[in-house]
Amino acid sequence: MTVADRSVDAAGAAPALATDEAARRRTFAVISHPDAGKSTLTEALALHARVIQEAGAIHGKAGRKSTVSDWMDMEKARGISISSAALQFPYGDSVINLLDTPGHADFSEDTYRVLAAVDCAVMLLDAAKGLEPQTMKLFDVCKHRGIPIITVVNKWDRPGLEALQLMDEIRDRTGLEPTPLTWPVGIAGDFKGVLDRATGDFIRFTRTAGGATIAPEERLPAAAALAQEPHYWQTAVEESELLTAMGQVHEQSTFLDGVTTPVLFGSAVLNFGVHQLLDVLLALAPPPGPRPDVTGAPRPLDTPFSAFVFKIQAGMDSAHRDRLAYVRVCSGVFERGTVVTHAATGKPFATKYAQQVFGRERETVDLAYPGDVVGLVNASALRVGDSLYVDEPVTFPPIPSFAPEHFAVARAVDSGRYKQFRRGIEQLEQEGTVQVLRSDLRGDQAPVLAAVGPMQFEVAEHRMAGEFSAPVRLDRLEYTMARLTDREWAKVLDRESGVEVLERSSDGALLALFAGNWRLQRVLRDHPECVLEPLVAASS
Ligand code: G4P
Repeated sequence: MTVADRSVDAAGAAPALATDEAARRRTFAVISHPDAGKSTLTEALALHARVIQEAGAIHGKAGRKSTVSDWMDMEKARGISISSAALQFPYGDSVINLLDTPGHADFSEDTYRVLAAVDCAVMLLDAAKGLEPQTMKLFDVCKHRGIPIITVVNKWDRPGLEALQLMDEIRDRTGLEPTPLTWPVGIAGDFKGVLDRATGDFIRFTRTAGGATIAPEERLPAAAALAQEPHYWQTAVEESELLTAMGQVHEQSTFLDGVTTPVLFGSAVLNFGVHQLLDVLLALAPPPGPRPDVTGAPRPLDTPFSAFVFKIQAGMDSAHRDRLAYVRVCSGVFERGTVVTHAATGKPFATKYAQQVFGRERETVDLAYPGDVVGLVNASALRVGDSLYVDEPVTFPPIPSFAPEHFAVARAVDSGRYKQFRRGIEQLEQEGTVQVLRSDLRGDQAPVLAAVGPMQFEVAEHRMAGEFSAPVRLDRLEYTMARLTDREWAKVLDRESGVEVLERSSDGALLALFAGNWRLQRVLRDHPECVLEPLVAASS
């Protein structure tokens, strides 16, 4: 893939109307458990959109360039992707923005923040495994945010669970009613194709060598399907009728309301079902709409430019010390070079350097529209959740910080470098790399870092040493849960064993930390009146 191939708006092109451009955009993320096939699907999507000629070019884990930064080293070592933002590609007359949710087993708050910037999510399941823990966690966040979900059952070319059994699992575990758009003909592992439930056609599965190029999609009428696959076709038709009888038929309003989830079956590695997914995204996924501001009033798409920061990436390239703030455009047209206002400070912010980043590819962005993602360079004043605007002020609601589940005390290895230590911790806290908690008892020399996933600690350690020249020692604490409390109860809670109350630096919230659920339950039993509010849960 060349950088130019991905460019949708040629440099220098006159901006189009924000409303027109928004209508042809779809901004989504794939939520899945590691190994369900997210990277493979991403490549297959790009391949279908003819952004790349052959699969293996974007995420090829084996093919990463071995140059660049420490970040890349860390990614390579762990086989993960933490520096990507969004892949944008044209599909027919439309523009697809696929936002990257890091695909590693550990959780980080970044993963969840990305979901604040999408209009739809694709829940990718491994046909043999069904709903796995990380899928459930991400699903919960989507549900919390009211994001509609399209389900794709992947790896149908391999032995797996029965399709009806998978539908039951989706319903039982997510509460969403599955409404399959296609239904498998043949069983997992002996896959012949799918029945298109809307038209009654058979979409035949044709293998290409290793799935490296686009598989031609062959559509046959029902009669031909019956002649070709008498047994499997008959079964598929009967099962589809059963689904219809049970009311498992797609309805747009219930999908958008998060009550139902359309389901597709496919094989990302063999490129089957990918074309169907793109078509379904265009047909069903909502385009970017007016986004509510902090008061709940929607910001019309045709008002001047506005956006919010959903992710900060710093220290990606140790040679340049760059710091990228990824924003999602909410209204108007982004034109590189425009001076925008930073809502939190009222100060101007020049957008001279704006980029798209995906994997190791970077490209200057000149124009962007609602639903698009732009990486702003040198954005040292920007924090996660911040709003930017032109002319008409707007503040979008803050992105909630999720309930941390991992806690560690940070201490400077070299006490002579305390100043650098403090600056580094402050910076990491501002960027949302970790949450920082403190108490008078522990003192500022030993703040507690709190994270949704332990990888956030690795990132913090790495950056403290590399970027701030203040190596830290992290001592893990036994706490696993946090609840919000108030000053009065904080005094009571501090006397309990296995409980500690700390103040979050970013907002002054008092967090009571518990070493396990039974400690929390015991406190609740002993003090039924105690103020202990759950934070926004990242886990189910
Ligand atoms: P992830 O990003 O969600 O972690 O998953 P990834 O795409 O890396 O896929 C994980 C493994 O599953 C890969 O195999 C990939 O080839 C395989 N896979 C993905 N989609 C399908 C599918 O539709 N059918 C089958 N049978 N396999 C699929 P691997 O052995 O780990 O890596 P590789 O050697 O194939 O690259």
